[in-house]
Amino acid sequence: MKVLAICGSPRPDGNTSVLLREALQVLAREGLQTAYLSLHDKQIAPCQACLKCAKEKNRCAQEDDFQGVYEAMAQADGLLLGTPVYFGSATPNLMALLDRAGYVARHGDNIFQRKVGSPVVVARRAGVNFTYAQVLFFFMIMGMVVPGSTYWPIAYGLKPGEVANDAEGMKTVAQLAANMAWLLQKLA
Ligand SMILES: Cc1cc2nc3c(=O)[nH]c(=O)nc-3n(C[C@H](O)[C@H](O)[C@H](O)COP(=O)(O)O)c2cc1C
Repeated sequence: MKVLAICGSPRPDGNTSVLLREALQVLAREGLQTAYLSLHDKQIAPCQACLKCAKEKNRCAQEDDFQGVYEAMAQADGLLLGTPVYFGSATPNLMALLDRAGYVARHGDNIFQRKVGSPVVVARRAGVNFTYAQVLFFFMIMGMVVPGSTYWPIAYGLKPGEVANDAEGMKTVAQLAANMAWLLQKLA
């Protein structure tokens, strides 16, 4: 069983990355295969609503970094989608990926159905619940199975690395990863 964590921050080594890597460490300790992918160096434009994905299945017609990321998502049994809060929402980096992945999947082989996954969200101060719900909407509409934790998987920090000082946030994400490992192993 393989879990892919996707970091939606434009910072390669920021707080979202710290949280996702913590989760992956727990998953690896539990015996799962893990992979990490950051969107900071990926060019993924917004969906153009061209609907070419309805004709040529499982592909987006736009020639950028989308298809490689989509194929990595397709190969994973579990997905962690991490984002910082930007003006109360998920980053456009992550949402551009999800809009296109969602449409390609719906018009293709519905690859997300029954995968296990969760959002992971970090902010300086506000917008975490909204952003968690925003990303959760993707998981739910795609028919995915979402484990919980001892709290919602949100944490606080401003400058890169600061989230490591949020002991409760780090613990919540570690427990989310442990629950995800448990669930994936039950489903295997
Ligand atoms: C453009 C922008 C908008 C932001 N908007 C918010 C916000 O609405 N609420 C908040 O609490 N923090 C906000 N922040 C702070 C980030 O969420 C915070 O620094 C976070 O730790 C960044 O995660 P990263 O290091 O993974 O990029 C914003 C930061 C940027 C750059």
